[in-house]
Amino acid sequence: MQPVVASQIPGELRRLFGAARRVLVLTGAGVSAESGVPTFRGGGDAAVWKGLPFDVITSLTMVERDLSVVWEWFDYRRGVLESLKPNAAHDTIARWQERFDQLTLVTQNVDGLHHAAGSRDVIEIHGSIWHARCISCGSRFEIPRQGQRPETCFACGDRLRPDVVLFSEILPAGAFELAAQRASECELCFVVGTSAIVYPAAALPEIAKANGAYLCEVNPERTPLSDLCDVLLTGKAGELLPRLN
Ligand code: APR
Repeated sequence: MQPVVASQIPGELRRLFGAARRVLVLTGAGVSAESGVPTFRGGGDAAVWKGLPFDVITSLTMVERDLSVVWEWFDYRRGVLESLKPNAAHDTIARWQERFDQLTLVTQNVDGLHHAAGSRDVIEIHGSIWHARCISCGSRFEIPRQGQRPETCFACGDRLRPDVVLFSEILPAGAFELAAQRASECELCFVVGTSAIVYPAAALPEIAKANGAYLCEVNPERTPLSDLCDVLLTGKAGELLPRLN
């Protein structure tokens, strides 16, 4: 069946939203676009840092070859994020955790803006720019918003790397499994601001749908997932999501 395409909230979605107990939200870079965070595939020139393309500077090879330049890039990105604020989409999703028996928020974003909006227990399947991880023992450390980034591991003294999933790396143990479990249990699944081409994250709405969930995509553009959806809310997340409340 073809999805309903809407720029207003359709009655069926409103009814399901009112009745649902278990809801899963998968977000991507588009949810932070209205906060001023550039998307990955949002058009324009691909990101380049000191002549290195984004996927090179954010790779395991670069961590092994020149960790200091990788940190320079992540320090720069954290610096940009420091002044950015959550937008109405982050705020709305944060409020949903009080509304439903089980609200599972899975994000591909590393920017920490869901936390900043007050969301708890966010499954950050691609890690967080606000954490560092020991390259030897795997201990994780929070990077303070103001103040010094830790240079070495407090547990074993070895070097730290950004705690994000780099290109060609596998996801952190357990994160996807938990997200997939919640996807299989949810009644309503929102896919917000993601191009839905990076797996396994893009498999979560597929798992939800296969287990009977109603699927709603929120995006100004169509994605490879659109045809699987029950409804496509065509527009900006920060404008559309608050209309559901
Ligand atoms: N509201 C909703 N969606 C938006 C908005 C907005 N205001 N602005 C842009 N979008 C949509 C775009 O149409 C696009 O489909 O957000 C999506 C952003 O897609 P990508 O840039 O591909 O980001 P994402 O899907 O999060 O990328 C997945 O790829 O490179 C990796 O690890 C990186 O986590 C990232 C992953």
